[in-house]
Amino acid sequence: KNIAIIMGGYSSEYKISLTSGNVVYQNLDKAKYKGYRIHIFKEKWVYVDDNEAEFPIDKNDFSVTVNGTKIVFDAVFNAIHGTPGEDGLMQAYFELIGLKQTSCDYYQAALTFNKRDLLSVLKPYGIKTATSFYLNQGDAINQEAILNKVGLPCFVKPNKSGSSFGISKVHTKEEFLPAIEVAYKEDNEIIIESFLDGTEVSVGVINYKGEVVVLPITEIVSENDFFDYEAKYLGKSQEITPARISAEMTQKVGAIAKKAYEVLKMKGFSRSEFIIVNEEPHMLEMNTIPGLTTESLIPQQAREAGIPLTDLFTNAIELALN
Ligand code: DAL
Ligand code: MG
Repeated sequence: KNIAIIMGGYSSEYKISLTSGNVVYQNLDKAKYKGYRIHIFKEKWVYVDDNEAEFPIDKNDFSVTVNGTKIVFDAVFNAIHGTPGEDGLMQAYFELIGLKQTSCDYYQAALTFNKRDLLSVLKPYGIKTATSFYLNQGDAINQEAILNKVGLPCFVKPNKSGSSFGISKVHTKEEFLPAIEVAYKEDNEIIIESFLDGTEVSVGVINYKGEVVVLPITEIVSENDFFDYEAKYLGKSQEITPARISAEMTQKVGAIAKKAYEVLKMKGFSRSEFIIVNEEPHMLEMNTIPGLTTESLIPQQAREAGIPLTDLFTNAIELALN
């Protein structure tokens, strides 16, 4: 079977996506699949061969012609973090042209990529969140009202982004407006959240061989002020799997992440982030194209569960094909 591994994308996360995509490519079961690395950039959609030669993708059917031979794909492995791979755009395109994909459907992708919308959909199910405030670019900013609501310190985040790009922890009033400016560089909507002082955990939920499975949970201890880009990718954090939380809490937060997966009718990968405050998990977000680099959490969690990367990727492809 021919598998197109899509990577890159149009967002600040493109480099991480290239690393994720290459990890998928290297760990594909070569007896079952032939992998093709496809770079998706605004300027070009191209198949990149092992000699780094590039061949343009035909956007009518996502095929590629190499030396006169047309290659069509049996499925797409989506490794694009951020737009257009994690926000539903690629998902809708593949659905329209009838190509199977490892990702969730376009609606779930669009919904989960929007932090405000995801959390408001989950709220009626009893899933707790930080106190928050939303702004669109151009909105008047009533600093006093916002800070009265969320308190200090607080977080200012782009509403739709990943890998902590554009996120600031705000400690003083003076830091507030500059933080908003930084967040608007990533997205035209922002979310301002109260600081939750507790234990941060990351919960992977996947469909593994037909069953919704909660992977071993990771606890995050940042050396930096929060789990920012440096902490995530430059080693400035400790990621402890399984998390040092009680068996009851492991069960509780795992059940919440699984419930969110089921309520949303998710498919494929998900990794949800929580802060546990006074024995109550508060959900921050859900990633549907979680990082697959060797430093990333889902590979760590799969390793802890005894699932080799090759099996993890085969499982995703088989689910997409069936
Ligand atoms: N957005 C990054 C890639 C993650 O969730 O792992
Ligand atoms: Mg994220």
